[in-house]
Amino acid sequence: MRLILLGAPGAGKGTQANYIKEKYNIPQISTGDMLRAAIKAGTEMGLAAKKVMDAGQLVSDDIIIGLVKDRLKEADCANGYLFDGFPRTIAQADAMKDAGVQVDYVLEIAVPDEAIVERMSGRRSHPASGRVYHVKFNPPKVEGKDDVTGEDLVQRDDDKEETVKKRLDVYHNQTEVLLGYYNKWAESGQPGAPKYRKIEGLGPVEEIRDRAFAALAS
Ligand code: AP5
Ligand code: ZN
Repeated sequence: MRLILLGAPGAGKGTQANYIKEKYNIPQISTGDMLRAAIKAGTEMGLAAKKVMDAGQLVSDDIIIGLVKDRLKEADCANGYLFDGFPRTIAQADAMKDAGVQVDYVLEIAVPDEAIVERMSGRRSHPASGRVYHVKFNPPKVEGKDDVTGEDLVQRDDDKEETVKKRLDVYHNQTEVLLGYYNKWAESGQPGAPKYRKIEGLGPVEEIRDRAFAALAS
């Protein structure tokens, strides 16, 4: 299984990626998680990216495309992969097409902007695993602790209300165009074209998981 998860910030890409990657035994390639790991490691790229991310803007296409191409060379991608938060621009999508990176499904998770700010303000993450919680909608078993490792959960620096609004603007201006891009490709019926599936992202997390599983089996 090779798929792209599309959706606004806070649509639940990371949350659903955790279910999908387990079901299909594929790695989750989250460019956001990769950038946050670079920030934590204190690399030069990470420091430069942090400024851009804290402003809610997109990191440059060259950096992102380079990161993903290197990641795809790793052995665990042989069985498939799940892109989460990538591609986010036409340039990134074209770079994958040009490189012949195969995609079976593009899965869009649709959530209205009104629901996003509340989701972000209650988000808590476990960076080492990519597991995501919400204080109200998807709470961990023990407050502030990851369910599996018991380690501390963290809040993301870019989840402040002003930054979330900026990220939503950037999504509508630069990323939403990819919905049409992949839809059109899917409808073209060209060899190698992906299937395009859209699911509603409002409702309990497990219900959305079931919608995602059904969409990927159709
Ligand atoms: P990234 O980390 O990709 O963030 P994002 O796309 O803005 O998406 P989020 O991670 O915020 O949301 P999500 O859809 O994963 O939702 P989640 O499951 O966590 O990118 C961060 C930054 O890095 C970007 O702004 C940019 O600067 C840079 N970047 C990354 N990739 C890039 C690229 N390709 N090009 C350029 N720059 C790039 O859920 C959110 C919350 O909602 C959680 O608390 C969760 O528990 C809760 N929740 C989930 N599902 C439900 C539900 N059904 N009901 C209620 N609550 C729910
Ligand atoms: Zn995410």
